Amino acid sequence: MALARRVLSVAVAVALLAASASADSWLYEKFTTDGNVRADYNSQGQQVTSLILNQQSGGAFSSRQKYLYGEFSIQMKLIPRNSAGTVTSFYLTSGDGPGHDEIDMEFMGNSSGQPVVLNTNVWANGDGKKEHQFYLWFDPSADYHTYTIIWNDKNVIFKVDDLFIRSFKRYADLPYPGGKPMSVHATLWDGSYWATQQGKVKVDWADSPFVVSYRGYNADACTPNGDGRPLSCPAGTDRWMNRQLNTAEWGTVAWAKKNYMHYDYCEDGWRFPKGFPAECSRH
Ligand SMILES: *[C@@H]1O[C@H](CO)[C@@H](O)[C@H](O)[C@H]1NC(C)=O
Repeated sequence: MALARRVLSVAVAVALLAASASADSWLYEKFTTDGNVRADYNSQGQQVTSLILNQQSGGAFSSRQKYLYGEFSIQMKLIPRNSAGTVTSFYLTSGDGPGHDEIDMEFMGNSSGQPVVLNTNVWANGDGKKEHQFYLWFDPSADYHTYTIIWNDKNVIFKVDDLFIRSFKRYADLPYPGGKPMSVHATLWDGSYWATQQGKVKVDWADSPFVVSYRGYNADACTPNGDGRPLSCPAGTDRWMNRQLNTAEWGTVAWAKKNYMHYDYCEDGWRFPKGFPAECSRH
């Protein structure tokens, strides 16, 4: 009897463990992987996915599903110490072709003790010269932080933890990533030619492997049903479908711009000698 009870309680414990693990086993269920990808569980049963960059390869995961509008978030813990030359990303894209749409959050690594830069960008019909880049107000490698993209037919919103840092608005007469379904991607790659101080500081392979960890992925998003048929959307879509920033949230965007902005395409006269893109002068 005592033995039977113990066996039973072990069985229950195993079942509970399996249930909590599967509740947060997002990687293989929702994504395909490429290159160096490792999946583990932390002590809370939460799946932690690591992308690893060594001299042979980087790593990536890409959603099986395409979405048309949604709120996408993930927690990330970036490469500690020397991450110069590396690029770590969380982004949406409609594909690789010309005329593609894309929404990016990319972390450009740096030498030990030098600040990482978060590049946000929006591509519409293949045009992606719309970067806002920020330094962060914390060390993104010391702990997990939540990075969120809200994409609806009114604007694209970027958020770091609870703070909004950018809203890219839609104007009826200007390009906007509005029509093409996009998949979700996370990547870690060698961006030596570009990432750090305009490519001056390269990846130092003596410090490899470089590891980035992701956990707590969430996509609250609509999926397209094919030509002209309505989207399937989860319950409670209103939470993000009509989301635009309120006055207080525009305040955090202004705070981030004032204190942490590293680059704003709307201020790069060298790059746009014939005048800035039209949205730069609208508000
Ligand atoms: C890296 O550090 C240098 C020096 O502090 C800084 O100028 C640069 O903006 C930092 N970030 C990147 C991505 O180069």
